[in-house]
Amino acid sequence: MINDKLKRSFEYLRISLTDRCNYRCSYCMPKDIFNSDYKYLRKSELLTFEEILSFISILTNFNLKKIRLTGGEPLLRRNIENLIGKIKGLGIDHVALTTNGALLNYNKAELLKKNGLDSVTISLDSLKCSINRKINPHSNISKVIDAIYIAIDVFGSAKINVVVMKNINSQEILDIINKFKNLNVEIRFIEFMDVGETNEWNLEKVYSSESIYNDISRHYTLTKLVDEKNSTSTKWQLKNLSAKVGFISSITRPFCGSCNRARLSADGFFYTCLFATHGYNVLKRLRSSSSELKLKNDIQDIWSKRIDQYSVLRKTHRIGNDRENKIEMSYIGG
Ligand code: GTP
Ligand code: 5AD
Ligand code: SF4
Ligand code: SF4
Repeated sequence: MINDKLKRSFEYLRISLTDRCNYRCSYCMPKDIFNSDYKYLRKSELLTFEEILSFISILTNFNLKKIRLTGGEPLLRRNIENLIGKIKGLGIDHVALTTNGALLNYNKAELLKKNGLDSVTISLDSLKCSINRKINPHSNISKVIDAIYIAIDVFGSAKINVVVMKNINSQEILDIINKFKNLNVEIRFIEFMDVGETNEWNLEKVYSSESIYNDISRHYTLTKLVDEKNSTSTKWQLKNLSAKVGFISSITRPFCGSCNRARLSADGFFYTCLFATHGYNVLKRLRSSSSELKLKNDIQDIWSKRIDQYSVLRKTHRIGNDRENKIEMSYIGG
């Protein structure tokens, strides 16, 4: 086990498998910037599955418990189920996937489950074509909804991520709850975050978790549930219904104090914060003659010096939006 300077242990790795996506959510990959001229990573620049596995096996020395595969869209990486099976083989307790659902059909879901995937989170921001066209011009709502049903069938439950933006989809919160309230899902309302430099974030566009909570509680009774340790979300049960709701309040109630996670980008940089501007080049070490021991010691050293708490500082010192070289979410991995 390794602790950082704020006594947070390293237990969770989020791996971005690709910086590409078949969707163009305005808060993540605005279509005018992520167009055909955009310079995505080349295939040779991506970590191979073998390299990812070598790195994970080094990290198993440190009590790593959970891995989440993200992107971009992780299902764009072919044979991802093989990677999942091998990660589980390394003894990781929980392997999760965050996807936009476009490629999650029954066969794929069952293959993922058979290879040991533990849980699925699917992003859905609106049920209305007119709104969805603004937030996510490439998305196909009915496909995403199908993917949610498939995930519930195959995995027993699903998490649904809804990024809420003021006056864009903030009026749809109750419709989304009504749609899924009788299913075994956790609907997580996420405050729009200032990740990257392309999504034109500003505080005015954030619809706070408190406002969302108030909107919901005018129509439903919410009972507080115990939050999982180190969770990003605070969880509530919709009384007498199957669904739970969660609030991810990175802007108004940052959760850096319990942040046990690091990120690995698709090209093999290790970052200790979603908002980090510099990473450690794992790919270079894996492709050179440096020893596994050196890599293990370097990671230990990086984590033990870690002081990241960007979201807390953004709130208390109002830092952030003018910071340079902020890394895009599609690259660093959600
Ligand atoms: P669990 O693994 O179930 O806790 O899910 P998660 O919330 O970590 O993962 P998911 O991919 O569903 O992300 C949900 C939202 O939380 C996204 O908007 C993420 O970018 C955000 N998020 C996840 N981890 C962090 C983090 O460490 N810091 C901040 N600020 N936001 C995060
Ligand atoms: N703010 C909040 N959440 C975001 N996501 C992507 N970009 C942002 C942002 N700027 C969410 C996606 C996905 C998860 C991995 O991150 O909706 O569900
Ligand atoms: Fe793609 Fe997910 Fe980013 Fe949307 S949030 S553009 S689905 S990676
Ligand atoms: Fe962790 Fe950085 Fe997010 Fe804070 S801002 S919760 S330190 S990733």
